[in-house]
Amino acid sequence: MTHEIAVIPGDGIGQEVTPAAVDVLESLEIDFEFTEADAGDAVKEETGEALPQETYDLAASADATLFGAAGETAADVILPLRTAVDSFVNIRPAKAYPGIDAVRPETDLVFLRENTEGVYSGIEDRLTQDVSTLTRVVTESASERLAEFACDYVEDGDHDGFTIAHKANVMRETDGLFRDTVNSVADENGVETDEVLMDAFATRVCLDPEQFDVVVCPNLAGDVLSDLAAGLVGGLGLLPSANVGPERGLFEPVHGTAPDIAGEGVANPAATIVSAAMLLEYLGYDEESDRVHEAVEDTLENGPRTPDLGGNASTEDVTDAIIERL
Ligand code: NAI
Ligand code: MG
Repeated sequence: MTHEIAVIPGDGIGQEVTPAAVDVLESLEIDFEFTEADAGDAVKEETGEALPQETYDLAASADATLFGAAGETAADVILPLRTAVDSFVNIRPAKAYPGIDAVRPETDLVFLRENTEGVYSGIEDRLTQDVSTLTRVVTESASERLAEFACDYVEDGDHDGFTIAHKANVMRETDGLFRDTVNSVADENGVETDEVLMDAFATRVCLDPEQFDVVVCPNLAGDVLSDLAAGLVGGLGLLPSANVGPERGLFEPVHGTAPDIAGEGVANPAATIVSAAMLLEYLGYDEESDRVHEAVEDTLENGPRTPDLGGNASTEDVTDAIIERL
């Protein structure tokens, strides 16, 4: 069976790390058909649109999409692309790699972040010169869909349940609905949960990340707390993410276009290659996915390394080393 993969490199180092990840996927001899499309600042300059309709349509029909990064237009590109794949959960692992400087090397967490609503629903108003407002939307259906995904995720991955990070003591209606819905789905599935207030989570994860494993959060909390965890494992440069929908997914590194090093051929391709490993797992190629994870880990530990990790290798050197290990 041929899998159609949309490839959207975007701007800056997206143009360097995305082809690297495609090279890795191509080396696996799986029947992939790659189609490349434009998005981001450069295509906006040319055509007036950061996300051309044909790019949106491609993501909406491909089995999976690999995205690099977009510059100033990031929000105009990513939010609609997540909609294109009907993504309701953002999976963000934060795992320290052996041999890489990290504040908390023992960190090994996965955030499952609600990806469609909360404070990012886009319902904002400027009522008067003095007053602006935002409507926070939480629905039972979106919370249920996330919780069902989380239950499958812990069962498939042999985790002991999950933690719900919320602030239902203050946002009683919205986070209350979120917490109660997630808990009741977990109950029905026989999955254990515990709860932590999201602000307390921020402190506790810094002091002792090992007390957490899988963390289920509303949209904003997931965004902020997963970035915080990124800091614990050595920065955004190594972190992958997956936006998963019922039928398709969008896989992207957490980092941006890195304008300070773009064009030099020295961007670290690891985050994008691990995002490609998540794509493999999503499509059911678990064994290949594990092999890619292991090859990246081994390369990060033993080199070659790009300058962000203290080495002097190029994007291409690192990619070749990963493919060789595969
Ligand atoms: P950034 O992630 O692009 O860069 C932050 C720092 O990390 C820079 O010093 C950069 O050189 C380094 N870095 C990031 N990825 C790296 C990699 N793979 N290898 C080596 N070093 C790496 O974040 P910043 O500077 O805040 O944003 C730059 C641009 O990227 C902005 O225009 C922003 O809007 C956009 N952006 C796009 C995102 C996306 O498309 N998903 C996400 C974050 C930012
Ligand atoms: Mg963020």
